[in-house]
Amino acid sequence: MLYYPGPRRTPRPGMTRLEIDLDAVGGNYRVLSDMVRPVAVMAVVKDNAYGHGLVPVALRLKREGCAAFAVATLQEALVLAGAGIPASSVLILRALTSPELVIAVGQGFAVTVGDSRQLQEVDALAANGGGSPALVHLKLDTGLGRLGFLPAQAEEAASGIRSLTSTEVRGVYSHFAITAGGHPFMDTQLRRFNEACDVIGQSVPGTTRHIAASAATVGMREAWLDMVRPGGLLLGMAGLGEEPSGFKTALTLRAPVVHVKTVPAGWNVGYGLTYAAPDRQRIGIVAVGAGDSYPYALRGKSFVLVRGRRCRVVGMSLDQLMVDFSGVPDAVPGDEAVVIGSCGEESVSPKDLARLAGTSYGEILSRIPARVPRLYIENGYVSLVDSLTDLADAITHVHEKQGG
Ligand SMILES: Cc1ncc(COP(=O)(O)O)c(C=O)c1O
Repeated sequence: MLYYPGPRRTPRPGMTRLEIDLDAVGGNYRVLSDMVRPVAVMAVVKDNAYGHGLVPVALRLKREGCAAFAVATLQEALVLAGAGIPASSVLILRALTSPELVIAVGQGFAVTVGDSRQLQEVDALAANGGGSPALVHLKLDTGLGRLGFLPAQAEEAASGIRSLTSTEVRGVYSHFAITAGGHPFMDTQLRRFNEACDVIGQSVPGTTRHIAASAATVGMREAWLDMVRPGGLLLGMAGLGEEPSGFKTALTLRAPVVHVKTVPAGWNVGYGLTYAAPDRQRIGIVAVGAGDSYPYALRGKSFVLVRGRRCRVVGMSLDQLMVDFSGVPDAVPGDEAVVIGSCGEESVSPKDLARLAGTSYGEILSRIPARVPRLYIENGYVSLVDSLTDLADAITHVHEKQGG
């Protein structure tokens, strides 16, 4: 559910929540498009914009002038169209099943096609529909081993294109297997892509070529071609590499401290008896856990920020973290922990957590569930709450009744 609570400078404290700085998203888009101009930008907002919220992020990008979007699924494309993003500006990255293709082509989305059979299927759908042409971006597999024609099939793809009657091939694209710039395999993939494009391009002169996601947008100028296709960079994260200056992380995950206790030396903390207090120790309980997409693998490794200080997570469960509060003797229930984000001089980035957990930040962020309300900040105000459950709504009303 989306609702507009009216401008409020300070988000209401007291609940686990994601704050998304839409001004950071807008600023990142402006920095990026200035950097690559005249090369075009396709904003990847798949996986619920890596958990940041598909619609608010896409609408902000559209307001900044973004005219091309990529999503993973048909459902995400339908949600964007419902929010007023033109279907023809949305590319669906996943290969679709036949029933999905009927809807996608009928609705006018651009679809990814990576083999001859599907190219003919899409063309027949558009021909039988008798309406607008099907919009296609042809996918080439240059070394990821996922979707697409192999470079050796470039001539087959080209002849498939020549036989189309009802399809507009809008783009030819590929995806790197490496998410940090500077790896020699990226050069190999780019060379394979350019060579295949030379063959295919004779059938579709002037078609848009794109291969650069965030890492190559940052670190591989020669891969920009006609269009770049970043996702994380627009949210302030560029694959495994460093972000250039000017980009800002858009997301903060906050959770309240709900309990503080002192346990005696040797007291066990957490499931599985994995931690015992070395001495008398203050332990804080923070209201976030694996059920909020905080990976179990972080137990004993990660930190949350309380009163500007790093506090180690020593125990974990689905809904709560047990945290070493030795360094924050003044912390009390009602304080807030920054789980992802900055506090004072300290910060915990999605990338830090992903590295410690042995996963990607995309996996962590896109799994943050609907029970964590999203508060969208613009010009320092909460402009929108997307609670998805009625939690935020309920809390707001209770606060208001109590004059909070
Ligand atoms: C095909 C494709 N293009 C672009 C992206 C965006 O990647 P990034 O978030 O690293 O920019 C992805 C993400 O995995 C993708 O699968």
